[in-house]
Amino acid sequence: MNAPLDNEALNIAAWHLREAKRVVVFSGAGVSAESGIPTFRDDGGFWTEFPPEIYATWNGILRAATKEPRRLAAFVHAVIAPIADAEPNPAHRAIAEVGRRKPVTVVTQNIDRLHQRAGSTRVLEVHGSMYEVVSLNGKKSKRTLTQSQLKRIAERVRRAKYGVLSLARLLVAIRPIAGVGITGAHRPNLVLFGDSLAEPDWSDALKAAKECDCLLSVGTSGLVLPAAMIPAYAKDAGANVITIDPGEGGGDIWLRGKAGDILPRLVARAFD
Ligand code: APR
Repeated sequence: MNAPLDNEALNIAAWHLREAKRVVVFSGAGVSAESGIPTFRDDGGFWTEFPPEIYATWNGILRAATKEPRRLAAFVHAVIAPIADAEPNPAHRAIAEVGRRKPVTVVTQNIDRLHQRAGSTRVLEVHGSMYEVVSLNGKKSKRTLTQSQLKRIAERVRRAKYGVLSLARLLVAIRPIAGVGITGAHRPNLVLFGDSLAEPDWSDALKAAKECDCLLSVGTSGLVLPAAMIPAYAKDAGANVITIDPGEGGGDIWLRGKAGDILPRLVARAFD
């Protein structure tokens, strides 16, 4: 059970947010947890079921395709289905509300596009997006999927988890997002371990962190570099850093609790 939210901390955080001229929101999987998308490192999180040493690298995924195609289908389904079914939650909407009142740059590690769907207009996706399909080298955008297209792919992948010819059926199911088409090979625009971060988003994120005067760090364990350096860059530039997380503190102020609960209260305290 989380300790009740410290009212004094909320007042101070609200004051900083109200007075800020340029805000950065640095978000991780925790901001989408209440939309039904599992986090990575919490109990029952993604990496507990699918070891990152296999599933967080392109080589590991290719090896899984040959050795354990049904497990790979289960992994692909576990990634795609929650994203395809997810809707923005009150945390995403509160962040978009701040953006309607002052310049906000959202730097997200998430690939679910929920910030944009909630109304945030400046979103930097430093780990890419499940909705973007690119050329194999990542340099050329091929297509942007709709949520209903992603839902259809998720359903076909779900069926490939069972029965025979799993790999063949999986490859057919994911062909709109990964495979070889008439314009060459394509893949999802995702940044896996060992990849360089998405550009120009990462360069723009560094610039925004160094120029902001208030940074909200929402729902991230802060373990994966270089993205996890964003709050430190903001701090070094003199920004006030406010952490919103039920489990991990940090920054100048820690508002302990779920993003979907705290952010609407923080925004109401700051602007109403
Ligand atoms: N509200 C706010 N925070 C939450 C909530 C919630 N409802 N539920 C969980 N959290 C917090 C956890 O306490 C934890 O600090 O969200 C954080 C989730 O941490 P991770 O699972 O490590 O996710 P993240 O920090 O986004 O991981 C970073 O690691 O594997 C890579 O590419 C992957 O982008 C990901 C990166």
